[in-house]
Amino acid sequence: MRFLQVATAVVASLGSVHTTQAAPNAPLPVNFGMILAPNFRTLDVFGTLNTLISTSRTFPMKLSLIAPSTNRNPLISQAPTSFLANPARSDFGFNILATHNFTHPPKDLDVLLIPGGAWTTGPDSIAAVAYVKKVYPKLKYLYSVGEGSGIVARAGILDRKRATTNKENFRLTTLLRPQVKWVGKARWVVDGNVWSASGNTAGMDAILEFVSVIYGEEHSARFTNSMEYDRHNVSSWDPWAVPSWYD
Ligand SMILES: *[C@@H]1O[C@H](CO)[C@@H](O)[C@H](O)[C@H]1NC(C)=O
Ligand SMILES: *[C@@H]1O[C@H](CO)[C@@H](O)[C@H](O)[C@H]1NC(C)=O
Repeated sequence: MRFLQVATAVVASLGSVHTTQAAPNAPLPVNFGMILAPNFRTLDVFGTLNTLISTSRTFPMKLSLIAPSTNRNPLISQAPTSFLANPARSDFGFNILATHNFTHPPKDLDVLLIPGGAWTTGPDSIAAVAYVKKVYPKLKYLYSVGEGSGIVARAGILDRKRATTNKENFRLTTLLRPQVKWVGKARWVVDGNVWSASGNTAGMDAILEFVSVIYGEEHSARFTNSMEYDRHNVSSWDPWAVPSWYD
């Protein structure tokens, strides 16, 4: 009997590596948090939130916006100030008001979302890595887009796990943590409860898959249709694939 229980558990855990099906009666995630720091990548944030906002009209959900600090400036600026990021010196961006910071984060988060962008290797990334490391054990799901997986990797959460990142900065991000099984050909990757999407529009496909797995494909299909979006629902479809030691 004991052997059977152990064997069943082993088979179940092996199965979970290869399937993205949520447990049939698992409580649905309610509390979502998005980390936002200046210089986040716009589509990583809004491509993801667009579908989650639609989902929240059918299922009860709550969104928190978590900034590194709300003391120095509660506004998260999307307009790059550095010459390197904005050589044309354009005044072209916007501000968002954070609801929380890393020292006073939202309680009982179910899902943490992490966008990519230049911030992921800047000074704000250090506190983000510490926060992600601390909050991860209490999360149901951790979800990143683009270089956001670099933050997850630096927190040690992806060691010996499969993950991807955007292909434009693939080498730079993957070098941050070689212990990760970085997948070079993937629109998105799921390993256990950690989701990582490649860059930009890949986040739109990954979040539609997330909603399909957690809330039901009929909802994803509905949102895809209302967005008039040419969705890619196969995670290995990747015209931007790059070579990786793991593939
Ligand atoms: C975080 O938010 C709390 C509550 O609003 C505030 O007391 C604290 O000073 C903030 N800390 C930082 C680093 O922004
Ligand atoms: C992907 O979409 C196609 C076309 O809509 C559908 O036939 C197929 O079953 C879907 N595949 C998966 C893995 O969801």
